[in-house]
Amino acid sequence: MRDVFSPGLFENKRAFVSGGSSGINLEIARRLGSLGAEVAVFSRSQDKIDAAVQSLRADGIDASGYTGDVRQYDQVAEAVSAFAAKGGGIDFVVSGAAGNFVAPAAGMSANAFRTVVDIDLNGTYNVLRAAFEHLRRPGASLINISAVQSQQAMPFQAHVCSAKAGIDMLTRALAVEWGPMGVRVNAILPGPIAETEGMRRLSSTPEMAERITRSIPLQRYGEKREVADMAAFLCSEAATYVTGAILTCDGGQLAGNPQGVVG
Ligand code: NAP
Ligand code: COA
Repeated sequence: MRDVFSPGLFENKRAFVSGGSSGINLEIARRLGSLGAEVAVFSRSQDKIDAAVQSLRADGIDASGYTGDVRQYDQVAEAVSAFAAKGGGIDFVVSGAAGNFVAPAAGMSANAFRTVVDIDLNGTYNVLRAAFEHLRRPGASLINISAVQSQQAMPFQAHVCSAKAGIDMLTRALAVEWGPMGVRVNAILPGPIAETEGMRRLSSTPEMAERITRSIPLQRYGEKREVADMAAFLCSEAATYVTGAILTCDGGQLAGNPQGVVG
């Protein structure tokens, strides 16, 4: 398939990707890197970071890794500062670190609920807040990773629904505050994406996967590369008037269930 983005599109650009050691976020790092950006990936596990950096470099990408927990502001700020100092600032930030497990609201502890809100929502604030100091502006593009749960309530997902809804509103609030400084802030809202930890946790049997597939207008799971392409669009010159947007990449999931009332 022909690449819709020009090679070298992001030459001399620098991207920091939190939660970039696996899954969708790693694919975003790979996409931005494959288009010429220097990328940094950040997450808790040194082993995962090492493997991610190695796989990015194997693809010819200028990549480095930083370890830390998005819940710890100092750890985030240290990593962001180190990456910024290495090359004179940051152009793109992707905040995608998240945690999920399936649990009824009455069956989880207060700490379980807080943990997910802390990773997803507070973590996103921490990443964007720490990066703000180092953004090359005007022109910086910040991308948060939301989820369908932010806008569609789901059983056993009260923690994730709350956290991701907060991310959507934080996206808009920062777009409003930082727009005048030439910083765009958007969110990508993926639907079910194949071969990810997220879907392994949410859909543990083939029957569940089949039921979810039937409920998606496009009748399939998305691919990581499809989310990564949306991130490339948001960082590109094609999106210079886009900010405060929550862009769905969900096969139509939020629009409705094609099985309708007779499904
Ligand atoms: P994943 O592979 O598990 O990615 C999560 C990443 O976040 C990992 O790199 C993980 O690495 C990191 N992380 C988790 N907790 C962290 C913390 N406290 N501090 C720093 N890093 C942390 O999952 P995924 O399924 O690809 O999901 C990626 C993003 O897409 C998430 O924001 C998720 O909510 C969103 N999303 C996914 C789907 C889907 O279908 N999978 C759908 C909608 C939205 P460490 O373990 O090394 O920390
Ligand atoms: N059901 C109910 N509660 C659960 C749970 C589950 N399946 N899994 C964890 N918890 C609770 C724990 O019991 C704990 O509460 P407690 O102290 O009252 O017992 C709380 O959540 C925190 O758990 P802990 O394991 O200490 O958190 P952590 O910070 O080490 O890990 C998680 C965070 C739980 C979100 C972990 O699953 C994780 O690291 N996830 C990252 C990867 C991921 O979720 N990917 C998908 C992204 S969509």
